[in-house]
Amino acid sequence: MSLEVIILAAGKGSRMRSDLPKVLHELAGKPMLVHAIEQAQRLQPTRTHIIVGHGAHLVESVVRPLGAECVTQDQQLGTGHAVAQAMPKVDNNAIVLVLYGDVPLVPAVLMQQLAEQAAQGDLAILTVTLDDSSGYGRIVRDDGGNIQAIVEHKDANTDQLQIKETNTGILAVKASLLNGWLPRIKSNNAQGEIYLTDIVAMAVADGVGIRHLQPDFPQQTQGVNDRVQLASLERWHQLQQANQLLRDGVQLADPTRFDLRGELIAGKDIYIDINAIIEGHVQLGDGVHIGPNCHIKNAHIGAGTQILANSVIDQAQVAANCNIGPFARLRPGTILHDNAKVGNFVETKKTTLGKGSKANHFTYLGDTVVGEKVNIGAGTITCNYDGVNKYKTVIADGAFIGSNSSIVAPVTIGADATIGAGSTITRDVADGNLAIARGKQRNLATWAKPVKI
Ligand code: UD1
Ligand code: CA
Repeated sequence: MSLEVIILAAGKGSRMRSDLPKVLHELAGKPMLVHAIEQAQRLQPTRTHIIVGHGAHLVESVVRPLGAECVTQDQQLGTGHAVAQAMPKVDNNAIVLVLYGDVPLVPAVLMQQLAEQAAQGDLAILTVTLDDSSGYGRIVRDDGGNIQAIVEHKDANTDQLQIKETNTGILAVKASLLNGWLPRIKSNNAQGEIYLTDIVAMAVADGVGIRHLQPDFPQQTQGVNDRVQLASLERWHQLQQANQLLRDGVQLADPTRFDLRGELIAGKDIYIDINAIIEGHVQLGDGVHIGPNCHIKNAHIGAGTQILANSVIDQAQVAANCNIGPFARLRPGTILHDNAKVGNFVETKKTTLGKGSKANHFTYLGDTVVGEKVNIGAGTITCNYDGVNKYKTVIADGAFIGSNSSIVAPVTIGADATIGAGSTITRDVADGNLAIARGKQRNLATWAKPVKI
């Protein structure tokens, strides 16, 4: 039986106090709505419909590349009305799974279980028991414990307000049943809204079985209404990810001071000190050591490499046994081969460092290809930009660049060449040559110090 997913994402989210639609606010570096879509897509639905309203164009631009279709809900008349907007596009024989764009952490396995129960002809709802159920729809059961209805907080009587089991809003049911119920929902309630939750009482009246599931953790079905809730959900999610990495054999100095915003593929015996931010797709080889306060994004770090404190790495390929930092910045297009060293206050961009080459202190290397066993002295700058165009520098194997040199590109420094300290190099240097391009030193023995008059 085919599955179609409907994700409600039309609301404004006023309490975020933001120009950005609420569902596009990020959790772990990814819009909340994208979390919901990605989990749902693990069930391989035939279609994913996103109900959009506030900020529709912006939301569409984010979800369309993911293969989701948007349905506009011009007026937010309630959750039942929202779902009804998508139904003309839904196959009447499909199972419908209803999700919320501001509930980012529902695991795919829970969605799958709901869909399976719905496939048996039942209405499957996800409920959660909370110490403080205020604001939520209450799950009303009869004396036999059978679910009878969902009553919204604002419509609940004093007895119903005591109920701790609440509606998460997430449910699955056959489209054919939904099509029968949706047009019959009335808005004669405290909020004058078309409540999707009314289908529960309709199902009971029609003799349709009601099944319910609960999440392992309430955070998995927690919706986000304001930035306080977003921040606390972020911390919970980060701690889950950190604990999983610990279980997988990655040593984190402190799981509460670790942030993964993307995917980390990790080898064995990796150590990550506090305040690391790992972003995008990052792969760490066996034995990698990451010092405190490092930001590593879309990078591949080879086995045995040491990244010392306060280093920033973005879109770089680092091979095995390299040394990076402290305070190094590897910008996009940096490639380090085995045993390369990039030390403190060194910035690299679109630059390759061959095996065993070193740039240990205060250096900028841009658009540069450095061969093997090259020593780049402190304060070396590749002058790759003339204000209009960028040019390449080539430094061949075994070259030695003296400290405080400016290498004005385009230029090639030959193999085993030496550049005298303080040189400004504007012409190619042949293999093995020494190039010195600096003012000559004069020592004046006859010089007399001025005296005070
Ligand atoms: C809803 C449920 C409530 C449940 C709670 C869980 C209903 C009637 N109530 O209440 O039982 O405990 O969620 O958080 O379903 N939306 C639209 N279009 C609309 C209305 C809502 O897209 O016309 C979206 C909102 O943007 C929001 C979500 O649906 O993301 C929930 O809507 P909201 O009005 O906040 O429902 P609650 O009052 O929270
Ligand atoms: Ca809500």
